[in-house]
Amino acid sequence: MTAETRHLPSAALPKVVGHRGAAGHAPENTLSGLRAAHELGIEWVEFDVMLTAEGTPVLFHDETLDRTTDGTGRLADRRWEDLRGLDAGSWFGPTFKGQRIPSLHEALALLGRTGMGANVELKPSEGQDATTGVITAKTLQESWPANLPAPLISSFSEKALGAAADQAPEFPRALLVWEFPADWQARCEALGATGLHASAKHLTEAQARGVIDAGYALRVYTVNDPAQAAGLYAWGVESLFSDYPERLSAP
Ligand code: G3P
Ligand code: MG
Repeated sequence: MTAETRHLPSAALPKVVGHRGAAGHAPENTLSGLRAAHELGIEWVEFDVMLTAEGTPVLFHDETLDRTTDGTGRLADRRWEDLRGLDAGSWFGPTFKGQRIPSLHEALALLGRTGMGANVELKPSEGQDATTGVITAKTLQESWPANLPAPLISSFSEKALGAAADQAPEFPRALLVWEFPADWQARCEALGATGLHASAKHLTEAQARGVIDAGYALRVYTVNDPAQAAGLYAWGVESLFSDYPERLSAP
């Protein structure tokens, strides 16, 4: 990244963002999950994007299909036409039988109709980091609904995020971290990321205040407990990702 591309438009997210749609209410990363978030009155959702074998971006979290569909094996080994028939809802509950793995295009169309913004998390399967960043960013450039605020792109994969930055420097970015890294700021600068998305499990108050004092947007996942949320908001955290977004009230 060059010096000019480091300071990019930052994203302004609401206090609560639906995690994987609204993962406590409907199967994660499905259209029913996005609809559930909208019905709860949620303004922004987060979801994960992975590529199929031929490079179609779809909403999916795990490396393999086993936990959340009736398929088995790696999603990245299967073509979109084979994945479309899988049931991605029954594992969550019988009323969701027949929910499919949505393509990113289908999800974007639903966002446009509902007016919800989105944090698009790049979730590359093994070895697909750069390709996932480029294809997802290109899809967002081509098909992001014009009525919505720009999408926020995030990833644990710095390679994927860097590739997305090169493809679409106009979109705000955030680096995702699990254990809080001492060199978080250098990593964000290298990626032109204006936000840090940290795990609630590892974040301390001193770390949180350090990020915020440095001028970065700090957002935290995954928070479902209102008391924990109140504490994080008191530290100055901008937004929380929640499976039950309706439980968390803004300060
Ligand atoms: O983007 C926030 C959160 O979704 C990151 O973790 O594993 O739920 O994608 P994960
Ligand atoms: Mg995610």
